[in-house]
Amino acid sequence: MTESLTVTEISIPKVPTLPDAQTVTAVTHWTDRLFSFRVTRPQSLRFRSGEFVMIGLMGENGKPLLRAYSIASPSWDEELEFYSIKVPDGPLTSKLQHIQPGEQIILRPKPVGTLVLDALLPGKRLWFFATGTGIAPFASLMRDPETYERYEEVIMMHTCRDVPELEYGRQLVEGLSEDPLIGELVGNKLRYYPTTTREQSARMGRITDNLTSGKVFADLGIPPISPENDRGMVCGSLDFNTDMKTVLEGFGLREGANSDPAEYVVEKAFVG
Ligand code: A2P
Repeated sequence: MTESLTVTEISIPKVPTLPDAQTVTAVTHWTDRLFSFRVTRPQSLRFRSGEFVMIGLMGENGKPLLRAYSIASPSWDEELEFYSIKVPDGPLTSKLQHIQPGEQIILRPKPVGTLVLDALLPGKRLWFFATGTGIAPFASLMRDPETYERYEEVIMMHTCRDVPELEYGRQLVEGLSEDPLIGELVGNKLRYYPTTTREQSARMGRITDNLTSGKVFADLGIPPISPENDRGMVCGSLDFNTDMKTVLEGFGLREGANSDPAEYVVEKAFVG
């Protein structure tokens, strides 16, 4: 007896894939309030260091829940890195903080933002002013060769309430001089000025106060900020940004934009 060969059409069950899905490759918890994570990078995604994208998760109502996140990784990195606060009752971060490698997030590949080198006029010294997770865009810019090609000196001021909250930035800065790709370019051009405001540490005080008192200039042995030599980028809470504008304008700097470069630019850090 010959068996008749029957061809059965089979349907492959579809794995539900999120629109613009990217896979988480690593997660690091820095404190109970802070974590960073890495995801795969869409092949088509090009961005300028300092820009942000919308990322998030699918909400329970089947609608994407998205927030603006600065890309913390440099544009030459194969993956994308993000640095986030954990807000216990935050609609997105209360869930996002539990993501694990292998899981997916949504990432809209449309980078935008004002913290880009092109929004500043040429100058000698570039200042990065960040509080809390506001260091994220500078984590990208500090790893961008162009930053060091354009400026003679780069100063990273980062302020958090306590020492553990500075750790993400500290490890990043300290690893830079050893970085095989840009270590040589960074050399001793990058100066790091971390401070705490609520825990005792080697350096203390709000960025605004350390600028207006002149302490930071004395500590670093440099002249005060001037519109001729200095350029600034600001990223933190709304109050911090507002106060920094006043401080920088007090030094004679004007706010710039992509379309109209000047001496400083500002972006609000994501919270919530
Ligand atoms: P402080 O401890 O004096 O409030 P947060 O964790 O609340 O986002 O704050 C991060 C850091 O930013 C803290 O060290 C905080 O200092 C500082 N900070 C908050 N608001 C301002 C502001 N308007 N100007 C300067 N620094 C600020």
